[in-house]
Order: sequence, then C-alpha cells, then structure tokens
Amino acid sequence: MGHGAMPEESNWLVHDHRRHEAALTECELAAGAEDWREAVELFRRFVDGLRLHMRMEDEVLYPLFEETCPGVAEDIADLRYEHERLSQLVEELVHVIRHKDFDHLEASLRPLKRIMMEHNAHEELVFRRMSDSPLLQRREEIMERLARLGPVDEDRGFDF
Ligand SMILES: [Fe+2]
Ligand SMILES: [Fe+2]
Repeated sequence: MGHGAMPEESNWLVHDHRRHEAALTECELAAGAEDWREAVELFRRFVDGLRLHMRMEDEVLYPLFEETCPGVAEDIADLRYEHERLSQLVEELVHVIRHKDFDHLEASLRPLKRIMMEHNAHEELVFRRMSDSPLLQRREEIMERLARLGPVDEDRGFDF
C-alpha cells in the first residue's frame, strides 16, 4: 500500500470491499450462533450492497477501463467471470435460505467468502495497475455515472 497516487474512486471501491468482507463475517457469526433471523437479515443487506457494487463495475468501471486501456481487456474478462461465479454462489445461498436449510447456511457462506476475497484481491491488483490511467482525470463524470445506477435493481432476481 502507501500508494500516494491512489485514485479516490479506487479507494472508495476498495473500502467497499472491506465493508462487504466484514458484512459477510458478521453473517457467518450469526449463522454460527444459530441466530437465523439475524443471519438472513445480514445476508440480505450484504447481497444488496454486493449487487450494486458489481453493477457499478460491470456497467461503468469495467467498460471505461476496456475503452481507455486495451491492454487490460483480458484481466477485465477474468473479473467479469468472477462476478458470474459470485452471483452463482449468492443464488445457491438464496436457495438454502428459501428452503430454510439453516444447518447448511454457515457451510455455504464459506465458499462465497473465499471466492469474494480472492476476487477483491485480484481486482485491487488490476485497479492499482490502472492508477496512472488518463481515465482518472474524469473522476467527477465517473462518480456521477455510478451514482445514477442507484440501489434498485431486479436484474439478477435474488429476491428472497
Ligand atoms: Fe469491486
Ligand atoms: Fe468486482
């Protein structure tokens, strides 16, 4: 770390990563304590946050990176694939919760957390490599586009 030129929007995204990781840990703890109500509520909030975060990347940040930095295309393709994998794991969890299969909740949270942490680390590496991209001069425009996505999204259909 100690990267003085670290762009604001990356800091903000990285901060989001820590928040998602902490949220999932809290959910695991509630599931471990067999507080299902709390675990489900924590998971619901976690999923809302993660979905919006992935949309911001899939719909705004990744396309901008692809557009302005052709060398990064392969990395972005990998990151997109990891989002798909994360979405699958979330759907499996939703299935577990819908069927009130609470004995498997804690165990099912583990692979999700592992894959998410691997993805976050990979993504932070890619974003750090972009830290001198001319794209970062467009901070306000980017933040505006991210803000426009808003928190409401039914695309991925994770209702539970
Ligand atoms: Fe991210
Ligand atoms: Fe991501």
